[in-house]
This record gives sequence, structure tokens and C-alpha cells, in this order.
Amino acid sequence: MQQGELLAMGPGSQFPQPPELTEHGPARVIAMCNQKGGVGKTTSTINVAAALAEYGRKVLIVDFDPQGAASAGLGINSHDLDVTIYNLLMNSRLSVKDVIAHTAVPGLDIVPANIDLSAAEVQLVNEVAREQALARVLRPVLDEYDLIIIDCQPSLGLLTVNALTAAHGVVIPLEAEFFALRGVALLVETIDKVKDRLNPRLKIDGILATMVDTRTLHSREVLERLQEAFGEQVYETQIRRTVKFPDASVATEPITTYASSHPGAQAYRQLAREMIARGDVA
Ligand SMILES: Nc1ncnc2c1ncn2[C@@H]1O[C@H](COP(=O)(O)OP(=O)(O)OP(=O)(O)O)[C@@H](O)[C@H]1O
Ligand SMILES: [Mg+2]
Repeated sequence: MQQGELLAMGPGSQFPQPPELTEHGPARVIAMCNQKGGVGKTTSTINVAAALAEYGRKVLIVDFDPQGAASAGLGINSHDLDVTIYNLLMNSRLSVKDVIAHTAVPGLDIVPANIDLSAAEVQLVNEVAREQALARVLRPVLDEYDLIIIDCQPSLGLLTVNALTAAHGVVIPLEAEFFALRGVALLVETIDKVKDRLNPRLKIDGILATMVDTRTLHSREVLERLQEAFGEQVYETQIRRTVKFPDASVATEPITTYASSHPGAQAYRQLAREMIARGDVA
């Protein structure tokens, strides 16, 4: 590595440059999950996925929110699509391979979603193996990717249970503010239930502090409480609050391409390296 690159990596460069992969798959599946809205699920999904793709990993994002924010954030106009994740869930004759879209980031693909998905929650209730629908959809492409990240909607309903059933790990983004821990107990309880009844391999990969403002005492206190509550499960990498993230989503790009050397881009690259160093991503 060049010295310039090392400097550009900034703090947290303790996580080593990931080794190159000579072959791809089978994918590990991660659910980006928190039933609280606006905590950085979609931002983290897009940006850690883009950072891992920069490191040569083959990554598939599954947009699992009827708002379609992950699709929009990567420049996919999902409103006009006839087939999305919704159709894959409801019709087992369709193949996920026909719905996957390439993004502008090499190595990063997405299964888009749009408002149609809001009907799935109700319609799936009457299906056989209703909790396993997403796992079934993803099975044919597991060998083609190193990582599949599911961007969950802010709810603990049947769609999120499907994501947890399809996943190996859960990443929980938490906004570094005073009430961040409210609701996390319920999320952990849901994860435990899914693990117990549907998916014994499931584990919490890590807790990601987002929208951190280290200048405020308040934010520092919240981070300390997070450490107390979750110990080593909290990622060392923290994501600072910066307007570059909303700016990047308006530009429909990950921050890693929109503002490649910005500290926000460096932070998600560091998270990518931390996930690889922890062994949660190949
Ligand atoms: N670190 C950050 N600093 C500043 N703004 C951020 C940061 N991360 C995300 N945001 C902004 O906060 C808003 C919510 O983020 P995001 O959409 O990623 O959250 P979410 O958990 O996916 O929300 P939802 O629950 O609605 O799906 C967005 O406008 C996003 O651009
Ligand atoms: Mg979202």
C-alpha cells in the first residue's frame, strides 16, 4: 500500500487492507435491521455495500422496504418497474436473476423494491412457509455473491421476520441520541425468537453507532451507554453526522463515489474492513 493511501484511510486504519478474493461465494446474508425509522439503515446498506465492492467483494443489496430508498439511492427508478422483490416473493416461478439490476458501482447489484411490496405483508400471511419466502428467493444466487445485505423497513412485521429468517447475521444501526436504546430490547427479543423457531444460525453481527457528533457530551454519553449495554458487539467504527450523506442520496450515489475522500466515505470503508476483520464477511 502507498503511504498516501494509508494516510487517506485515517483513524481506524488498524483494520488491515482486506485480502483479494480469487473466487466468489457462497454469500453470507446480513439483515440491516432496526424497527426505529431514520437511524441510517439504508445509508449504511448502500455505503458499506459500495465499500465492500471497492474491496473486490461481489455484493447484492436486497431492497426490502416499500419506500424503495435503497433502489432510489443507487439510481434505480423502481416506481416504473413491473417486476421487483414483491413479485419474487409472491410467485415462485420467477427467478431473482431476472430482477437483479446492476448499479453504477462495479460489483454491486440490487434487487429493487417499490410500493408494491407494501401488499406482501398481508398477502404472505396466507402462504405456506410464509416466513421463508425471501430465503427461497435468494437461494439461486447465493453462490454468485460474497455478501447479500437486506435493507429492512422500519418494522418488526412479517417482512422483517423474512429478512431475519434468510440472514446469517444482523447489523443494527443505532442513532447516537438519548432514546436510541428504546426498542432495542424488543428487536433483540424478535431476533431471539427467529433464531429459536426458524433460523438457528442467526446472530447479531454488530451494533453500528450512526449520526455521531463527538463534539457533544450527549453523543459521547450515548456511546458509553452503548458500550455498557452491548460491549464488544458495538463496532469500533462510528459514523459521524454529516450532510454529505443526504447530499449523496440526492445525487443517487454512494458516498464512496460521490465524495470518495470524505471522512464519511472513509468511515464506511473502515466498517467494511472491520466486518472482514471480524470474519463476518469473506
Ligand atoms: N451519518 C449521517 N449523518 C447525517 N445524516 C444521515 C446520516 N446517516 C443517514 N443520514 C440521513 O438521515 C436520513 C435517514 O437515514 P436512512 O434513510 O439511512 O435511515 P433508515 O433507517 O433507512 O430510515 P427508514 O427507517 O425510514 O428506512 C436520511 O435523510 C439520510 O440521508
Ligand atoms: Mg431505510
